Amino acid sequence: MKELKLILTVLLLLSVTTIADDYVRPQPRKTLHLPWHSKSSSYPQQVHISFAGDKHMRVTWITDDTSAPSVVEYGTLPGKYGSVAEGETTSYSYLFYSSGKIHHTVIGPLEPNSVYFYRCGGEGPEFELKTPPSQFPITFAVAGDLGQTGWTKSTLDHIDRCKYDVNLIPGDLSYADYIQHRWDSFGRLVQPLASARPWMVTQGNHEVEHIPLIKDGFISYNSRWKMPFEESGSSSNLYYSFEVAGAHIIMLGSYADYDEYSEQYTWLKTDLSKVDRKRTPWLLVLFHVPWYNSNTAHQGEGGDMMQTMEPLLYAANVDLVFAGHVHAYERSKRVYNGRLDPCGAVHITIGDGGNKEGLAHKYITPQPKWSDFREASFGHGELKIVNSTHAFWSWHRNDDDEPVKSDDIWINSLVSSGCVDQKRTEIP
Ligand SMILES: [Fe+2]
Repeated sequence: MKELKLILTVLLLLSVTTIADDYVRPQPRKTLHLPWHSKSSSYPQQVHISFAGDKHMRVTWITDDTSAPSVVEYGTLPGKYGSVAEGETTSYSYLFYSSGKIHHTVIGPLEPNSVYFYRCGGEGPEFELKTPPSQFPITFAVAGDLGQTGWTKSTLDHIDRCKYDVNLIPGDLSYADYIQHRWDSFGRLVQPLASARPWMVTQGNHEVEHIPLIKDGFISYNSRWKMPFEESGSSSNLYYSFEVAGAHIIMLGSYADYDEYSEQYTWLKTDLSKVDRKRTPWLLVLFHVPWYNSNTAHQGEGGDMMQTMEPLLYAANVDLVFAGHVHAYERSKRVYNGRLDPCGAVHITIGDGGNKEGLAHKYITPQPKWSDFREASFGHGELKIVNSTHAFWSWHRNDDDEPVKSDDIWINSLVSSGCVDQKRTEIP
């Protein structure tokens, strides 16, 4: 009887799961142990950079010493710092944990497509960053639901090997899950990449960390991962936008209010109305919970947000939407309101960065018409926007320790396909 049950379970699993070729998916890997051996209490750690308005970059780092200075010295030659900027600091406590001093210092104006050398707090190692180009081509790395396991390391190694300008993260970063020192170990894990290229993030459910009556949500996330919300006219770090080369990129908050009376909804309408497709022919949006998802995991969770906000994105001719949350990869055809639409967005779910929770293997059958490719494997994506009309998207599966390109497609911009001119330009 037991054997019969087992066989039936296996058959059932096979019937609802899409398996690509004969690929054998690897098991989840353990959480990494990243101890911190402080060189001095003012030694900069967990360094990462992010955009902070036109031609400016925010440098963030943490020191154990609460009196360490928030200065960044920088220049275009190693060891020679012709410029210096001073920033702001914050810190927070969470139950029995007290954070170090979190420094946020904005540097610039910076030249595009240039290498800068910099040092934080007047001591420690020299870091090197490269600013993005001011025009096409530009390459984005994309990976969600990272965590800090052996698979995260594998994903980061692969991203590091690709020539990218900006890293986009659609939520779920550290998987600290209330254990605050895990935010510190995540900061140490990502520093080699995040100190060299801007990391632009939005929040996932693992960033909330709300304890009713005791702790508000997003305390750690907002303190550590300050994004350019003020620079983009938003009143919340949970949603903002920025422009780079010829792309306008909007980061939305799946865990901020999004109904039509919410601040986020109002801000989104205003931000979309400012988009100039002559200056930024490509329009991208990221958030955590996918609207188009044919995996059984988190099925329908994004429905309310989609109902409220998809008409805004459609009217604004959004080209591409990236989400995470589901620990797998899926790419849609151009779609709107559940139906194929040549003027709708391509939706990509890429919540497969390598977190401790493992992969989401079960898919709904038959595969919906809008779903073009789906697979439950760890990996990352690369979006190379070549010019105002063409972009090349590729998804790279972590096949053991090798990045293997498993899905790729040329995407035409909606500007080039005439949708922008066809549709009503005003936002409803
Ligand atoms: Fe999530």
